[in-house]
Amino acid sequence: MPTQYSNHRDTPLRRFNAFWWGLACFGLFGLMSTVVDWATCDRPDVESLRAADRHEIKSEVDTVQSAMLPAAGSLEKVAGEIKSAPKASGQFVPGTASHQKAMDALSNSTGGGEGFKLFTDKTCATCHGADANTPISPAYPKLAGQNAEYLLAQMKDFHEGKRTNGQSAVMKPMMALVSEQEQKTLADWMAGLKPAMPTLADDAGKALFLSKGCIACHGMDANSPIMPLYPRLAGQNTQYAIDQMKAIKDGTRSNGQSAAMKGIMAGVSDEEIKLIAEWLTGKK
Ligand code: HEC
Ligand code: HEC
Repeated sequence: MPTQYSNHRDTPLRRFNAFWWGLACFGLFGLMSTVVDWATCDRPDVESLRAADRHEIKSEVDTVQSAMLPAAGSLEKVAGEIKSAPKASGQFVPGTASHQKAMDALSNSTGGGEGFKLFTDKTCATCHGADANTPISPAYPKLAGQNAEYLLAQMKDFHEGKRTNGQSAVMKPMMALVSEQEQKTLADWMAGLKPAMPTLADDAGKALFLSKGCIACHGMDANSPIMPLYPRLAGQNTQYAIDQMKAIKDGTRSNGQSAAMKGIMAGVSDEEIKLIAEWLTGKK
């Protein structure tokens, strides 16, 4: 005998359905309230925390890196100077016929050899000119014919961070590319090149060079220093010579034997420095 139901709608199947519908509604309500909760509560902003972390790490890296880099602006300045350097001769543009010709001529006139190869391979030529005598900026030095011992001492001082004046910061990383033996080979090669020797005028600059006592160390002709560790000056770039004299005077250049010259510079004004530089570099 089948069970009799008071209400014909009330079947086991419908009871079963009602149970699951109830459960589903309950679940849906729970889910929705969770969503509302999630949407309205104060959650920590993970992204901004991460960004803050990244910022902190980045600034630590920046601090460490900036301590290893040359003075701010110095590299940009050099890059600017290299870019604006006159390229008229094509001598410094690798691949051009005039560059090849200049390199061949130089290789021949300097006996080629290891020094010449190092000077071009290690990119010294980019700033100082392939002949070590035509720097791209008037504030950079000519090196050809300079005393070997002086050259070597300067390279060592750049490397060890003892010479830091002017644009020395660009020389420091360069010196990390050459071993001590290579520095010696380079110094000998540069010293063996024909120096730039101008005709020196008989003017106010010369009078100052004599009266201020420069000759005592650098020689009558600014070309015969009393010690191999002292530099030749004749024919040097005017701007470079001015910068160095001022740096030795104010103490920003204090490497090597600079102290020997500092006392003398105290009695030489900026105007006199300019006159002397123009004389010894043959500018007039
Ligand atoms: C990016 C340009 C640049 C490059 C590349 C470069 N130099 Fe220099 N060098 C300079 C500047 C600038 C100075 C002068 C620094 C100052 O006092 O302002 C200098 C100074 C020197 C001096 C000292 C000269 C003096 O009269 O006191 C020597 C030696 C020298 N460089 C050798 C080299 C050699 C060797 C190389 C290659 C291994 C080289 N340089 C690569 C820019 C450069
Ligand atoms: C007591 C010796 C002495 C006297 C005097 C002296 N100098 Fe010097 N000068 C030096 C020495 C040493 C250096 C190189 C310093 C070093 O070791 O780096 C030098 C460097 C220089 C340089 C930089 C050369 C370069 O290639 O970087 C110039 C320019 C210069 N002297 C000009 C003069 C003038 C001008 C006078 C006179 C007003 C003078 N000096 C007087 C010893 C002297």
